[in-house]
Order: sequence, then C-alpha cells, then structure tokens
Amino acid sequence: MTAISEPPSDRPAAEEALDRSSYTQALTRLERLHLLAVEGTDEAATERQHARGKLTARERIDLLLDEGSFHEVEPLRRHRAHGFGLEDRRPHTDGVVTGWGTVHGRRVCVYAHDFQIFGGSLGEAHATKIHKVMDLAISTGVPIVALCDGAGARIQEGVTALAGYGGIFRRNSAASGVVPQISVILGPCAGGAAYSPALTDFVFMARGPAEMYLTGPEVIAAVTGEHVTRDRLGGADAHARSAGTATFVHDDERSCIEDVRHLLTLLPSNNREPPPTARATDPADRATPRLLEIVPSDPSIPYDMRAAIEEIVDDGDFLECHESWASNVICALARLSGRPVGIVGNQPRHLAGVLDRHASEKAARFVSFCDAFNIPLISLVDVPGFLPGVDQEHGGIIRHGAKLLSAYCNATVPRIQMILRKAFGGAYIVMDSRSIGADLAYAWPLNEIAVMGAEAACDVIFRHEIAGSPDPAATRAERVTHYRRELMDPYSAAERGLIDDVIDPCDTRRVLIEGLRLLATKHADLPDRKHNNPP
Ligand code: HXC
Repeated sequence: MTAISEPPSDRPAAEEALDRSSYTQALTRLERLHLLAVEGTDEAATERQHARGKLTARERIDLLLDEGSFHEVEPLRRHRAHGFGLEDRRPHTDGVVTGWGTVHGRRVCVYAHDFQIFGGSLGEAHATKIHKVMDLAISTGVPIVALCDGAGARIQEGVTALAGYGGIFRRNSAASGVVPQISVILGPCAGGAAYSPALTDFVFMARGPAEMYLTGPEVIAAVTGEHVTRDRLGGADAHARSAGTATFVHDDERSCIEDVRHLLTLLPSNNREPPPTARATDPADRATPRLLEIVPSDPSIPYDMRAAIEEIVDDGDFLECHESWASNVICALARLSGRPVGIVGNQPRHLAGVLDRHASEKAARFVSFCDAFNIPLISLVDVPGFLPGVDQEHGGIIRHGAKLLSAYCNATVPRIQMILRKAFGGAYIVMDSRSIGADLAYAWPLNEIAVMGAEAACDVIFRHEIAGSPDPAATRAERVTHYRRELMDPYSAAERGLIDDVIDPCDTRRVLIEGLRLLATKHADLPDRKHNNPP
C-alpha cells in the first residue's frame, strides 16, 4: 500500500497507486486532491496576487455567487503539454476555475482566470474547460460570467493555445442573443483575452489592475515607436471614454462584482424567458410634474436627460451603460411598474444631444441586446439631428447611423417613442419613429417635430426672398415664425397619424406603463431568413 504523503509539488497524489481496498483512504486522497486544486501549491502566489491589488480567482467567484452555491467543474484538470519545462509544472485547474452557482437565487455559469498559474494564460486544457462551461451555459440557458485576469495565449503551447481561443470566440458568437454574456476585466487581458470580452454583451472593468489590449506597450514601441503606459493604453478609463469597450467602470473589484450581481437582476436568463419582474412599490399612475421643470420649453437650452429618466422610472433607479462614452445618447436599463425596460434617450447636455458615429453605434448595440432578450424599448427623444462635418462623414456616419436604423427596424420587442421636446430630420425617424416600427409614439404639446429647425429650414427655402428683401432680418424672422406655426408643432404629426397622441408631460409615466401593459403580449415575426446583414 502506498501512503499518501503531503504533495511536495504540483505533481502529487494523482500519480500515486490507488489502494482499491479501502474507501476511507480513497476519500482522504480525493479530499487532498480537491484541497490541492483549491489551495494551489504556491502559497506566496496568493500574496503576490494580493500585493498587485487583486483578489484571487476563487475570492472573486465567492463575491459573485450566493454563499455556498458554487459547483466547480474539472477542478482536477491538468495540461498534458510538453516542452519549455511544462511537463514539470502541471497544476490542477490549469489556471482557470470553472463551474456554476446562483446570483440572487438564479443560476449562472462562471469562469475565472487564475493569474497565479502561468499568468492566467490559456493553453489547451484551460481553453477546453472554458468551452465546457460555455456549452453548459448555452444548452441550459443560463448567463455566463467571465472573470478575466489572463495573459492571453499560453506562449509555450503554441498554436494549440490559439485554437483554444478560436473555440471560445465560436461559442461567444453562438451564445450571443441566446444567453447574456458578461465579461469582468480584473487584470491584464492581452491578445485573445481581450477579443472574447469584445464579443460579449457587457464589459465591466475595475480601475487599477484591469487592462485590455491586443498588443502591449513593448510591442507598440517596437513596431510604431510610440511610447505609452499600460494604463493609458488599455486601462479602464481608456476603454470607458475613448475606445467604448468598457460598458461599466468601477474603482475596485468588489463594487465591480457587486454591480454584475445587480445587472443580472435586470436580465432574463436566456432569450426564451421574459426579464424578471420585481414587485413595484412606485405607483404606476404616479404623475411626473417635475418633467415640466427638468425639460426647458426653449429647445436651445440644455438639460440633463438623466433627471428626466429618474422622474419617469420606478424609484428613480436606472443602470446606465457606457456612461462616459458617446454621452450624447443615454442607454440605460430600468424598470417601469416592476418590468425591466431599455431606455434610449438623447442627452441635450452633451453635443446638444445630436446623433454622431459613436452615439449611433452605442445605441444600436443596446437596442439589439434588448431586442434579443425580450426587454421592451422606450425611446426618449430630444434630438436636433445628426452631427454634420467632414470628420463624421469620412468616419462613416452613414454606416454607423444605419446600424441604429437597422437595429430598431429589426426589433420585435414592444417599442414606445416619447418625444420630449424636439425631433428633427433623419434623427427623428431613426429614434424609433412610428414609420420604422414603434408600436406607440407620443408627443408633448410644445414639441417641435420637423425636417429641421425653423431657422435652418427658412435659410434654405426662403434664401432668395430673404436676400432680396429690403429688411432681410425682419423677413427671415417673419418666415421663421410662420414655418414654426405651420409645420413644427406636434399636431401636424398627430393629424398625419405619425404620433398616437399629444399628452400632458405629467402623464408620461402613466402613459408609458399603460402602453407596455398592452404590448406585454405583443408577438411579431420577421420574414424567414438565415439572419440579416447589418451595416
Ligand atoms: C505563458 C505567461 C504569459 C503567456 C505571462 N506569463 N504571460 N505564461 N504565456 N502569454 C507568465 C509569466 O512568465 C509569469 O510567470 C506570470 O505569467 C506573470 O507574468 P508577469 O509578466 O510577471 O506579470 P505582469 O508584470 O503583471 O505582466 C502581465 C502581462 C505580461 C502584461 C500579461 O506578462 C505580458 O505582457 N505577457 C505576454 C502577453 C502576451 O503577449 N500574450 C499572448 C497574446 S497573443 P512566472 O512563472 O514568472 O510567475 C494571443 C493571441 C490570441 O493571445 C489570438 C486569438 C485570435
């Protein structure tokens, strides 16, 4: 009989002969192996991870899941790679902890890179563990959360590691629109470790150790001669403000993971379920008089659309996505009478609320997400148009604007447009007008709905008359007043059936909730096809 001694390294008891005569010893051995997988072999590694300001993979999983709910899969997995000394270093888990558990009582699948093992880098065994848990999430219809802290492809495993990433990307794509996918970036994520998050629905980043880049500063310096720090290149704020990769940014890991738990309460587990309803304490018929103070009647005065959203939604509570990127449009999840809704609102406080390239792209992806997961869409419109300019045109505003158009046109969830102040031109149509498929559209009495603002319109159609007039300023003012009276009030749109009613702003919440109640049983099919081809 071979005694099981304390494992001297990470090549322990598994290779020892199994005594088949006694369950007692077999169970002791099993317990020891599991303990080894959980605790690892290098005590100093945990200290190093903490010294980097980071939690360990298992500490993160504990924060994410309800207490005691974690079921680990493949904790005893080890790689079988050779070369570069790999055969002497075969730690259990192979650098990724995978499994499932519950968040507020609802099941999720999870994987967490373990930076303490090969820098969380991805080899064949590591990759196939992730494939397994992703397959489980897709087949059982539960969200998947990735806690990312990994150095990309494990260099020693060569192309096998690259192929492992291919398998993840394929599953990310298969899961898209089937189960919610959330990536939480908590350490350096290089190469493939950055691509997978980009394929998921929401990317959280914790300021400090979280970084994402395809190639790090050294490679950039060698190839282009540019010198940049890791944080400035791919830190949380770079992704939240410039690149638009990060949906949510937090100061630390704990608040980041807490917010993931909150986000999950607003999402269905899969595309076949409705989003979870909460018991509403905020009355459905609550009047919204503050909207009259928040939204100035003068269309040129800016205000904060966030304050309007707060006044409308349950308990003033909403979760804003991409807060610091393309801030001229707000995309937020909230509840109306307990039911989750996706809100797209123009933000007059930034760039007067125009739609530009980034805003169109941001809103398009949000609309598409909500549609995939049965979350009704509320569009709060106050938009002067698309942003003009060579930079916008050459940067592809037509393509990006078309993305938003396409996302709305293809959305079959309940859709309500509420115009708060002005809605001009193509941007009015794109912001979920009746003509592109909104189920219901409402306006307020002082709305201006038109092809463009009165001044710009008169400068086009009365240009010659104004120029030839003895008093051009007076003629222009007169024409502007006339145009505004004839074409810009909401009754012109109401008479033509382009909006369903003009309402008292104080009734905004009640009208939206009544509309959503009707539309809760909406069923709409698009024509049969493999899939559309978005711009
Ligand atoms: C194997 C790796 C590794 C890797 C780091 N390590 N990267 N092991 N493969 N890719 C190991 C280190 O040797 C070290 O091991 C431990 O992880 C911690 O790394 P450090 O460098 O000490 O940590 P830190 O200073 O925090 O720097 C982290 C890092 C840096 C920024 C991630 O290690 C780095 O730049 N690594 C290379 C990243 C990379 O180029 N990845 C490949 C991308 S290509 P010891 O034993 O000393 O603790 C890719 C292609 C996919 O992913 C494409 C799919 C289409």
